[in-house]
Amino acid sequence: MIIKTEHLTYKYGIGTPFEKTALDDVSVSIKEGDYVGVIGHTGSGKSTLISHFNAILKPTSGKVFVDGQDIWQDDKTERIKARFKVGLVFQYPEHQLFEDTVYNDIAFGPKNMGLSGEEIEKRVMTSLEFVGLSKDCLEKSPFELSGGQKRRAAIAGVMAMSPKVLVLDEPAAGLDPRGRDEILSRIRDYHKETGSTVLLVSHSMEDIAENANSIIVMNRAACMMHASVPEVFEHASQLEKIGLDIPQITRVFISLHKLGYPVSQNIYTVDDAEREILSCLKGGGARD
Ligand SMILES: Nc1ncnc2c1ncn2[C@@H]1O[C@H](COP(=O)(O)OP(=O)(O)OP(=O)(O)O)[C@@H](O)[C@H]1O
Ligand SMILES: [Mg+2]
Repeated sequence: MIIKTEHLTYKYGIGTPFEKTALDDVSVSIKEGDYVGVIGHTGSGKSTLISHFNAILKPTSGKVFVDGQDIWQDDKTERIKARFKVGLVFQYPEHQLFEDTVYNDIAFGPKNMGLSGEEIEKRVMTSLEFVGLSKDCLEKSPFELSGGQKRRAAIAGVMAMSPKVLVLDEPAAGLDPRGRDEILSRIRDYHKETGSTVLLVSHSMEDIAENANSIIVMNRAACMMHASVPEVFEHASQLEKIGLDIPQITRVFISLHKLGYPVSQNIYTVDDAEREILSCLKGGGARD
């Protein structure tokens, strides 16, 4: 397991009238190389949970392990290592761009890691390609870029640290549909090509279904489910109770199945739907 929490509890504002339990006894295990979607209603604890993975927040109680090491053991070396092993892209990361050029912004993390100039340049170029920005951007000020480009530059800065785990908190928030698809497909390619672990926090079940292999469902500070995408979608009514919905396309196929059409109920994306309908028309029928 690349990341593991054991009975993780976190309270904000302890001892004040605003004390709030944001995580309550959360035990999750994340497999190396997995693509995990994290979903849950507003305030369910998603951002608080991921902030524990690179030691930004210290558990009120419970443990956090990164790459097998308890990061809050007395010696702080494990916390420092966790900062490099787990790269966190916060919501609206473009607000954190501050260098004079895009190059320097992307190079900031690798420089802090003490890498050679040559290695830093290599990392900047590779991550620029991953996010789909052109080389012309490098000498520009980050403030000359469009909103979507700024977002990509900020993501490239975290990718350039080559973290074992890339965690993104709502990376597509506020972008138009084309910008969303572009960012998400870039992240999907990054996951495929590097084999690193990816965690995607999102409000959209559609986005998670199209990208993740497994899903963590957060509900009121607790982890309600952590299972593969098909296993989670089997619990549609439980999800509905907490205000979450399975993808619309899945709903359509469950209805078609109920009406007697020989189609699978486990359809999560429009591409899957197209394949299923074509195979049905050819007389193939349901896959399950
Ligand atoms: N800095 C803070 N001080 C006090 N309470 C906080 C703080 N940050 C978050 N909280 C509270 O902790 C709970 C969990 O918040 P968190 O931000 O982890 O939720 P989230 O699932 O990421 O929500 P969203 O989908 O809106 O981003 C919420 O009730 C929130 O109000
Ligand atoms: Mg959040």
